[in-house]
Amino acid sequence: MESDRELVENEDIEVELVLDALLKKSDYDYRNYSRSHIKRRLSHRLTVSGYNRYSDMIPDIIYNPQFLNKLLSDLSINVTEMFRDPSFFLELKDKIFPYIKTYPFVKIWHAGCSSGQEVYSMAILLSEDNLYEKSQIYATDFNREILDVAKRAIYPIDTIKKYTNNYQQGGGQNSFADYYIADYDSAAIIPSLKKNVLFSFHNLVTDGIFGEMHVIVCRNVLIYFDKELQNSVLKLFYESLVPGGFLCLGSKESIRFSEVEKLFEVVSSSEKIFRKRVC
Ligand SMILES: C[S@@+](CC[C@H](N)C(=O)[O-])C[C@H]1O[C@@H](n2cnc3c(N)ncnc32)[C@H](O)[C@@H]1O
Repeated sequence: MESDRELVENEDIEVELVLDALLKKSDYDYRNYSRSHIKRRLSHRLTVSGYNRYSDMIPDIIYNPQFLNKLLSDLSINVTEMFRDPSFFLELKDKIFPYIKTYPFVKIWHAGCSSGQEVYSMAILLSEDNLYEKSQIYATDFNREILDVAKRAIYPIDTIKKYTNNYQQGGGQNSFADYYIADYDSAAIIPSLKKNVLFSFHNLVTDGIFGEMHVIVCRNVLIYFDKELQNSVLKLFYESLVPGGFLCLGSKESIRFSEVEKLFEVVSSSEKIFRKRVC
């Protein structure tokens, strides 16, 4: 019989072997994601498959492409919505837009943009403040399928009620209906909001800096990373920002205890907005 300690140690070994197999078969590197998140997602696939141990999944990862795809989609969390956490967007308008107004052009990077709703929320607020024309938005994710959804920008009509509510609470000035074209069960974002948005693949684990950005928005992504990976991604963001550039994280995320903590000033502690210090 395994002791409780052995049980946990052996389970950890199995998880590492599963993640190694995943990396070798798919190029997705989940080794530095939060172990509790990974275990939760793997446990789900374990139950559905009727296996007893994590390591029972390894032959399927290697030899069964359908299983591999299912597992990869289990691990990918793409939950998002327009004007998610409306108070963040109020703060964006209040604390960041006044600076943007003084720049001749603005480069904004949405890292981990999922299906694009956060990006189009930004585009709407920029256009309402006459800032969209001088903005270039780069929106990246490491999930190619979700990037295709983002580029299409067609969302289920039953999400619109919630999005409209969020838009109003997030400082929207017009009617949200101005920004989509409804068609039976879907709502398509109007083309003018897509004009200055470039979607592309970027993996925060393996890819490098992304140019000189004025604003980086990376919300609800770091929460899935372990401390080491959070630290290296925060360094990547620091290096990708101009001096005085802004970093926006999700409500449960932080730069505290990272190597870059002292290199940023806190702009909004509640909405997790930070500004790169001008040395
Ligand atoms: C929960 S969604 C957050 C979407 C949006 N930022 C929001 O807050 O509504 C997390 C996104 O991060 C992406 N992601 C996770 N790991 C990533 C990585 N290593 N590189 C790039 N994107 C990643 C996922 O594919 C997913 O689309």
